[in-house]
Amino acid sequence: MTDEPPAIGPERLRERALRALTTARDRTALLTTCVDGPDLVAQHSPLMSPLVWDLAHIGNQEELWLLRTVAGREAMRPEIDGLYDAFEHPRAERPSLPLLPPDEARRYAAEVRGRALDVLENTPFEGRRLTEAGFAFGMIAQHEQQHDETMLITHQLRRGPRALTAPDPEPVAPYSGPSEVLVPGGPFTMGTSTEPWALDNERPAHVRTVPAFHIDTTPVTNAAYRAFIEDGGYDEERWWTPQGWAHIRTHGLDAPLYWRREGGEWLRRRFGVTEAVPPDEPVLHVSWYEADAYARWAGRRLPTEAEWEKAARHDPATGRSRRYPWGDADPAPEHANLGQRHLRPAPAGSYPAGASPLGVRQLIGDVWEWTASDLLPYPGFNAFPYKEYSEVFFGPEYKVLRGGSFAVDPVACRGTFRNWDYPVRRQIFSGFRTARDA
Ligand SMILES: [Fe+2]
Repeated sequence: MTDEPPAIGPERLRERALRALTTARDRTALLTTCVDGPDLVAQHSPLMSPLVWDLAHIGNQEELWLLRTVAGREAMRPEIDGLYDAFEHPRAERPSLPLLPPDEARRYAAEVRGRALDVLENTPFEGRRLTEAGFAFGMIAQHEQQHDETMLITHQLRRGPRALTAPDPEPVAPYSGPSEVLVPGGPFTMGTSTEPWALDNERPAHVRTVPAFHIDTTPVTNAAYRAFIEDGGYDEERWWTPQGWAHIRTHGLDAPLYWRREGGEWLRRRFGVTEAVPPDEPVLHVSWYEADAYARWAGRRLPTEAEWEKAARHDPATGRSRRYPWGDADPAPEHANLGQRHLRPAPAGSYPAGASPLGVRQLIGDVWEWTASDLLPYPGFNAFPYKEYSEVFFGPEYKVLRGGSFAVDPVACRGTFRNWDYPVRRQIFSGFRTARDA
């Protein structure tokens, strides 16, 4: 069972790194030029940094890893390092720091990038773990793309008129296939040892045995979630964990974030526009507590992280784990809603070409999916290249999310990719699907 997908040839990796870095920077530029200077330095929510912090932090991390660590160069601006260290300053504190103003932040990030492309061209992709298969470049491209998602979350929190637009996903006929899929019991390969840019917490590949279970074919929709609300789901303690119940009572929560009821209608605010909640779309902006309560109300439960990954990657015909539900090929537009191509999830049942071998849809893209599991290391975990990437987060405080959202770029999303957050969080692009024992 060590049969993992074939490794990607070294000749393609340098070109892939250049493309990933360029795609990320194009997106960063769009997210930080579609609003004006005062908007960039404002803090739109205590949960988020001002956009101008993300911009210079992206450049600072790139300088730290690609220029100083990989290429051994001197610090360009040692006096700013502390300002952009995420561990030194919590988000709420960042607006009061003497941050680089927008033009200076842009110039700094561009200057770092110019030098980093030079380093990319001249660094061998072997002989040193950090640059093996271009890892450091892939890590920095993923870091920037993750901040592009963070900045999109800030855009969604921001008040005021719409600053961003994108075409809607293709309309599809309402999904009418089976509502759940049976995943057979037995061992499968979880995690990876061969994916070149997989991060430390996705490693190593190991065998996990999962008993048979059923999992929803698509993520839970707004219509289904609305039925939970209208059945009094938020008023009945029995559906909630004690912590979840205390949380919704303390904060007076009675619907997903951004929803409000007007007359008999549910409306939501999405990137500056108020619109009717679309019934067929996967529910978005729910906390782990809400996902968990819904599942109990529905007579089901959240899938564990291992169940999610088995449903996404296991091919019963070969016994192999794929890179993605559809196979080993990189994501294309027909597979999944990724990369901020659309600024919303696609209707449930979209992307049949992206289904897993067992027929589970939309595992990748659309909405991050909460799982039942805490963030824990895999057997044989090795922190790399620094403990603050994952190791400091291991434990019962964080719940794992899988699969990526419409806001995630393909370079930062794969069948093994793990994300995590506190169970109260819902400003993230989070949804879920449910499961039950077979
Ligand atoms: Fe960061």
